[in-house]
Amino acid sequence: MCSSVIQVSNLKRIYECKKSVITALDNISFEISKGECVGLIGPNGAGKTTLIKILSTFLLPSSGKVLINDKNVVNEYKEIRNNINYVYGGDRGLYWRLSVYDNLFFFGTLYKIKKNDLIKKIDKLLYDLNIEDLKFRLIETLSKGQKQRIQIARGLLNSPQILLLDEPTIGLDPVGTKKLHDIIIKMKEQGRTILITSHYMNEIENLCNKIIFINNGKIIENLPTKTLREKYLSNGFNTLEEYFVYLSGDNNV
Ligand SMILES: Nc1ncnc2c1ncn2[C@@H]1O[C@H](COP(=O)(O)OP(=O)(O)OP(=O)(O)O)[C@@H](O)[C@H]1O
Ligand SMILES: [Mg+2]
Repeated sequence: MCSSVIQVSNLKRIYECKKSVITALDNISFEISKGECVGLIGPNGAGKTTLIKILSTFLLPSSGKVLINDKNVVNEYKEIRNNINYVYGGDRGLYWRLSVYDNLFFFGTLYKIKKNDLIKKIDKLLYDLNIEDLKFRLIETLSKGQKQRIQIARGLLNSPQILLLDEPTIGLDPVGTKKLHDIIIKMKEQGRTILITSHYMNEIENLCNKIIFINNGKIIENLPTKTLREKYLSNGFNTLEEYFVYLSGDNNV
């Protein structure tokens, strides 16, 4: 068994629309080891969400190989799904006419968590995310940031070994953001593996020990955070944000 829990080789993902073919991921290869917290950054349309969806087994690759815990996302997704979870930005995937508790209970049963453990887990997550008061509210009555906190709770229900986060702090206030960061820091201490996309460069630099920058479906940088920081500073950029703008090819900003 290799220490890499995520292995991506020559991954290509194409979207075929009526009149065009979009290459969202263009032959990318990388590995993530157990316990790493990796930041995936890049401009709008770079391919980040496409990659997160493939890793969370909701989208098939067009070609190439993707292994999670040595299991192939194409035909061994059932084994993979028990050990992973994901949080997507926005409010997709929740049942609007059901309460927060009923949503979390339903998703928890999909992971076959025992009823008593699940009830305790839901209460613990609501406490950790400071949303105990929302327990019996219908999803459709919640604000954007409140829904996002429920998405995060849903993503943590099965205490995943691998957590895939796509812009998880979008719409969160500073308290909600800090709560999630505290949870991520705790998960890192527990040796869990995290891949997070964000457009907030401070968040990525502070949380992640490795950063992957993609643009037009290709990996441009894949370095430990410390090494990347040394690189952009020695090249005359003061912040990761400045270097991001440069790598994105926009020199007029
Ligand atoms: N369902 C789809 N059908 C066609 N094209 C798609 C589809 N989903 C994404 N794309 C295209 O694939 C490319 C990558 O999109 P993706 O959503 O992965 O980017 P992203 O890096 O997550 O961007 P953002 O930072 O805006 O979230 C873009 O050109 C996008 O327009
Ligand atoms: Mg995206």
